[in-house]
Amino acid sequence: MKKLFANRVLNNDTSDLDEVFKNSANPENISFAGGFPDQHLFPDNDLKQAYRDAIEHDGQGIFQYSSTQGLPALRQKIADRMATHADVQVSADNVMMTQGGQQAIDLVAKLMLNHGDAMVVEGPTYMGALAAFDTYEPTYYEIPVDDNGMNIRQLRKTLKAHPEIKLIYTIPDFHNPTGTTMSAKRRQALVALANQYDVIILEDSPYRDLRYSGQNIPAIKHYDTEGRVIFISSFSKILSPALRTGWIVADDAIMHELVGLKSAIDVQSPNVTLAAINSYLDQHDIDDHVATISTSYRIKRDAMLAALDQYFPQNVHYTRPNGGFFIWVTLPEGIDAKTLLNDVVLPQAHVAYVPSACQFASRKVKNGFRLNFTSLDVETITLGIKRLGHILQPAPVIVPAASFAPQF
Ligand SMILES: Cc1ncc(COP(=O)(O)O)c(C=O)c1O
Repeated sequence: MKKLFANRVLNNDTSDLDEVFKNSANPENISFAGGFPDQHLFPDNDLKQAYRDAIEHDGQGIFQYSSTQGLPALRQKIADRMATHADVQVSADNVMMTQGGQQAIDLVAKLMLNHGDAMVVEGPTYMGALAAFDTYEPTYYEIPVDDNGMNIRQLRKTLKAHPEIKLIYTIPDFHNPTGTTMSAKRRQALVALANQYDVIILEDSPYRDLRYSGQNIPAIKHYDTEGRVIFISSFSKILSPALRTGWIVADDAIMHELVGLKSAIDVQSPNVTLAAINSYLDQHDIDDHVATISTSYRIKRDAMLAALDQYFPQNVHYTRPNGGFFIWVTLPEGIDAKTLLNDVVLPQAHVAYVPSACQFASRKVKNGFRLNFTSLDVETITLGIKRLGHILQPAPVIVPAASFAPQF
């Protein structure tokens, strides 16, 4: 029957993602694999009350079909937040609610990519985005990421050599998976390059508000002069991923097409949920909640970094993020993190991480892995890193047996 399936499915290998979820779900493992928020920090009672208030306040109408773009009052709040938290001035008409950031990525891919079209992704990048893009079968160009985000010099060279590139996907704030943040200088240079080469930028920023140290930087969209930056974010990391609610900010012409595409996919996001989030935002200052979770995540990040400093050998390198969910580890050249995970780390240390290859469009870089520090408590983080560090210690020098032979 498989031969009846479309190429986009047959060419789409999701086995790595399946494995990540399997390793995360196994209670025997200390899993640093999933990109999960700490569920103990969900404001469950406030959300329960918000659903009740929304249904009581809006009455029967809340259960009716409504606009594809989503509840106007909520879009206005997002527009206001874009101004205060991202230095981006937009109206509610330039905001559309989506089913998570994931749907927003899919919508932009659907808008932009014909089979074989050229696009830029960071290397490494968010594997869920690769899964979404893969179904449109683009030609990827991979640009490395360092402590200041995407390497702009490399991007310039690539755009010059491949003027057919249409789309650049970037995660500028507390990047998934490296945790690094793009400098303001690079953001400006990126927009200038997009203008020069007539490219759309997809700025994916679900971790933006989760800063634990350092100074805020305006969104890339702040520097947009020609309406070619599409900004997406989500309530998943700051409120709850189960709400499946994110948003897209785009200029008029792009927004018009995106609304049409979303309408064809699911008509609208669930109105009850949008009304409940709107009610939550009316009753609470979400920044108080973000401050609470940020305090907890800062402690967890610091605990993981302290454990890495203590237990990891000198020849293993890792990032020191100012926010977000992840730390990226680089092993010495030649070590395959996936083989190491399956043959040694899981069976001996019962620790899980996400190996690097599936986070690169090229699948070529094998000696790295992603660690999540938000979902576990400090003790478990420290224990897991200690176990992992023990496995990573350079192999003891094996003294040939002959050396021990008694000398006659
Ligand atoms: C960079 C990035 N973009 C988008 C998403 C999608 O999140 P959601 O669909 O839950 O909003 C994630 C989730 O991990 C992510 O890390």
